[in-house]
Amino acid sequence: MRTKIVAGNWKMHKNAEETEDLLNELINALPDDKEARIIVAPTFVNLASAVDHLEFTNIGVAAQNMHQAESGAYTGEISADMLKSIGVGIVILGHSERRAYFHETDALLASKVDTALKHNLEVIFCFGEELKDRQSGNHFNIVENQLQDSLFHLEQGAWENIILAYEPVWAIGTGETASPEQAQEMHHFIRETINRKYGNIAQDVSILYGGSVKPENAKEIFSKPDVDGGLIGGAALKAVDFAAIVEGI
Ligand code: G3P
Repeated sequence: MRTKIVAGNWKMHKNAEETEDLLNELINALPDDKEARIIVAPTFVNLASAVDHLEFTNIGVAAQNMHQAESGAYTGEISADMLKSIGVGIVILGHSERRAYFHETDALLASKVDTALKHNLEVIFCFGEELKDRQSGNHFNIVENQLQDSLFHLEQGAWENIILAYEPVWAIGTGETASPEQAQEMHHFIRETINRKYGNIAQDVSILYGGSVKPENAKEIFSKPDVDGGLIGGAALKAVDFAAIVEGI
């Protein structure tokens, strides 16, 4: 039985005081009757305080990235061990903004996934096609290659710590949400692709949709059989909107 998940990727938003304020608002606003995991991903500087702040709640804390090396001369980077040392157990990897702005390749991401799993971190692995790929009908090939090149080296057992987040790049931050039918079509393709390689465990992998999920569209997207929740950007920065999205799971 796979898990429903709604995760908020805060990206580079909220300083220390704003993080505490939003966390307090979320604690008060989020429904507590949902059979779903709720996760927030503040920026690095606010992770330790978020872990402490949410200790006695059912809200998990994720990092937005990490380096693939155990340690070393990598100015400005954060290691898996550092995340674990402050109580963070989940890390987002492969976000399209990391791929675009920081040139993270499928091969580099495979290495990051390996390091994260070695440290028993859960991975929310992001992937998705660009507009040109969908317009040319190449979106299924792109997505299959992203999965194969970053995840299909894993042993079957490793998948219990993998959460997938399909985020069509053309839907991120644009307001151009994929239709529920587009999301379901790709999520089903992703699950079938995993099934061809790994068999039945494909049915246990949570596949989240990300890309302009809002209170007004969340419930219909989440109602699709192969959509197991969402990875939320802009709407995660307002407690009332994130809570409304969680209501839709
Ligand atoms: O990681 C989630 C994010 O990329 C989606 O952003 O603002 O389209 O919900 P947004």
